[in-house]
Amino acid sequence: MATFPTKRLRRLRYNPTVRDLVRETILTKNDLIYPLFVVPGEKVKHEVRSMPGVFQMSIDVLVEECKEVEKLGIPGVILFGIPDHKDEVGSGAYDPNGIIQQAVRAIKKETKKLLVITDVCLCEYTSHGHCGVLDGEKILNDETVELLVKESVSHAEAGADIIAPSDMMDGRIGVIRKVLDEKGFTEIPVMSYAVKYASGFYGPFRDAAESTPAFGDRRSHQMDVANSNEALREAESDIEEGADIIMVKPAGAYLDIIWRVKEKFGMPTAAYQVSGEYAMIKAAGRNNWIDEERVMVESLMAIKRAGADMILTYFAKDVVKYLDKNR
Ligand code: PBG
Repeated sequence: MATFPTKRLRRLRYNPTVRDLVRETILTKNDLIYPLFVVPGEKVKHEVRSMPGVFQMSIDVLVEECKEVEKLGIPGVILFGIPDHKDEVGSGAYDPNGIIQQAVRAIKKETKKLLVITDVCLCEYTSHGHCGVLDGEKILNDETVELLVKESVSHAEAGADIIAPSDMMDGRIGVIRKVLDEKGFTEIPVMSYAVKYASGFYGPFRDAAESTPAFGDRRSHQMDVANSNEALREAESDIEEGADIIMVKPAGAYLDIIWRVKEKFGMPTAAYQVSGEYAMIKAAGRNNWIDEERVMVESLMAIKRAGADMILTYFAKDVVKYLDKNR
């Protein structure tokens, strides 16, 4: 093997054209999924305090936004709903006329090929802000799964293109798949939040989705941040249960997990660059402490390099603008 001075790795960094030629990871529009928050009302466009550039939108505004997202060439959006009323069992989540069901129908009417992905969980719909039904302070697994199934079916009936369960209850993917198939939705993929950590990086999302738990936390169902082998077991069980796409969340601080999951299973792998990751880059950028655009691209490139095939990111529109500018 050649060594210096024969071997000079800088040769292939000599100029931008050479660098383009040898670049291993390419970030494209096709990698992006844009999260959106929908609220009741009309003409509502309310910026989330801790997420500059991210808005809660009423359905009329949301539809216009989705048309723009489609025009920009972003393949899909993922929807989070904030209902007008919350209760103990999160009924708004599986109401055929719930906020998400109405939003999906409205978007599908006004767009052609935009993928409408729906987040399936109860936390935005329960009065206590937990991801499931409670017995005292305990989150019940199997009772919750039944409701998640109803929620998934109602999303599919409204026209959702992909169902994305984010609750982390055991066994939900298998039952959701089975019931979707029985109802004739055999072609609707399930994107499982398979490896979801109990993370402090979700803080700003809870402002956006108004889903902060009234007591306690999510550590009895979301993963311990210290664990890595367990991530493989979580991914494996969701794959066995029929998940089509496996998600790791958060992304930036969990690149090792993305890498291991991708290496081990070779499944279509999604990564969620969550609200806190977005907020940190935005905040530092706004203070001119970092170059926001550059760090945005670097953070997403790293997630892709780690093995993600697609990235859910609040930066999606900014990325497209960046890519178009730098073509
Ligand atoms: C649950 C859900 C959460 C996020 C996506 N789906 C919040 C949670 O688990 O507490 C977080 C996404 C983000 O922080 O951007 N419905």
